[in-house]
Amino acid sequence: MPMIQTINLTKRYGEFVALNSLNLAINEGDCFGFIGPNGAGKTTTIKILATLLKPSSGQAMIDGLTVGYQNRQIRPLIGYVPDFMGAYDDMTVAEYLEFFAAAYGIHGEARARVVGDVLDLTDLAYKRDAEVNSLSRGMQQRLSVARVLLHDPKVLLLDEPASGLDPRARIEMRELLKELKRMGKTILISSHILHELAELCNTVGVIERGELLFQGSVAEILRRARMGRVVHVAVAQRVAEAAALLRQAPGVTRVALVDADHADNGAPAQEIHLTFDETGAADATDIPNRLVNAGFRIAKFVEEPVNLETAFMRLTKGLVQ
Ligand SMILES: Nc1ncnc2c1ncn2[C@@H]1O[C@H](COP(=O)(O)OP(=O)(O)O)[C@@H](O)[C@H]1O
Ligand SMILES: [Mg+2]
Repeated sequence: MPMIQTINLTKRYGEFVALNSLNLAINEGDCFGFIGPNGAGKTTTIKILATLLKPSSGQAMIDGLTVGYQNRQIRPLIGYVPDFMGAYDDMTVAEYLEFFAAAYGIHGEARARVVGDVLDLTDLAYKRDAEVNSLSRGMQQRLSVARVLLHDPKVLLLDEPASGLDPRARIEMRELLKELKRMGKTILISSHILHELAELCNTVGVIERGELLFQGSVAEILRRARMGRVVHVAVAQRVAEAAALLRQAPGVTRVALVDADHADNGAPAQEIHLTFDETGAADATDIPNRLVNAGFRIAKFVEEPVNLETAFMRLTKGLVQ
């Protein structure tokens, strides 16, 4: 049974259909990236899963419990980080966490211990006596995560936790989420930026205008988007001959000779750019063997970083079925 599941989940605001028959299945321990442009329906979905919003029709389930019917059992299982944090005047970081720990029914020594633990985990221990309002946005976001870790939930629902953060704060947030993943939490995290989630998540779903366009692995999203992988190869000599050889390799759809960026230090002046068809991932591994068997010396063999944004745009433009 999936840890998070929706079945034909639909949400209307009056006549407007914000979610249209959404079917999600997220297994225990998964980190699921929920990707879509603004207005796609991410927050609506997450609020329903967090028991804060009622579906118009269909079902949402956490650990087999149904939202709207078993909310009281669901709430201890989830930690929900909303897309913005309220203001907490004149409250220190420690007071803030103590307050929420008390609200979760954690008292006495256990409370002090839990607050200390989550401060350590989120790298905020050195800020325990600082006022919440004085924290940077990155620290406030980590504090929001700290807050929902107090009751040690199995499931984390994070609504764009990295939005508005500078690059360094984004990295810190990502490291924190990786740690939570290692702890075995099931994580649903939304973003309108695909590459932010590609490294962190093992599965992704792409939503647009309330419809789920795609659900699967990051590798699959690229295949589905018909992304040809590109590999840069340089050989010590006889470049044209090597290019001719590789033109025959299975899965290669295009071979280009390109002037290398840095042709100094005796490095080859030209390199070969190989484009593979969508099944090409496996074929690329065969290229070095082919070259070596034909007597070429390989000076470089690098796969171009795959362009996830392009894949995402193609998906959301409906170019892919
Ligand atoms: N309370 C509401 N009343 C009416 N329309 C809403 C309400 N909340 C959200 N919407 C609309 O539903 C759609 C999905 O919104 P939302 O779930 O916030 O998207 P996302 O989080 O992906 O940006 C948007 O078109 C938004 O304007
Ligand atoms: Mg949103």
